[in-house]
Amino acid sequence: MSMKICVLFVCLGNICRSPMAEAVFRDEVEKAGVSEHFEIIDSCGTGAWHVGSWPDPRTVDVLFANGIHTDHVARKLKLTDFKKFDYIFAMDRSNLQNIKRVCPSDAKTHISLFGDYGSAGVSKIVEDPYYGGDDGFQLCYEQLVDFSRNFIKKVVG
Ligand code: 4NP
Repeated sequence: MSMKICVLFVCLGNICRSPMAEAVFRDEVEKAGVSEHFEIIDSCGTGAWHVGSWPDPRTVDVLFANGIHTDHVARKLKLTDFKKFDYIFAMDRSNLQNIKRVCPSDAKTHISLFGDYGSAGVSKIVEDPYYGGDDGFQLCYEQLVDFSRNFIKKVVG
């Protein structure tokens, strides 16, 4: 692992929540002026259904409304991720279980809910918004901004 921090965001499909998390986190890192502390900021899914796809248009819309761009292409979690990334953040408990199930026993990466960095009163679980309305995507965005700011403060001060 490098001195700079590598962070991976993981959801199920890698088209709604985790590409949003990746883009929001990168934006918050830039706004905080701490980009030099981070080497890789990436996202992936535990499932393979959407591999090769752009993010869901509703994710793109929420990001765009907040001045954030994404050109992520969906990919599936792979074994080398456990070596490459210092932090692997799940969006919900099902993602967390799925990540831990395939994690090699000698991995040194920190695996947790991204929501473990949530402020009091903010739900730790980023609910799957895929089958819901646009408000679900807006809620994801607000949670991800909160978690990102708190994690950045925690790791780089
Ligand atoms: P994500 O959302 O895990 O936040 O990318 C989903 C996207 C697609 C599906 C489920 C969740 N799906 O079942 O196709």
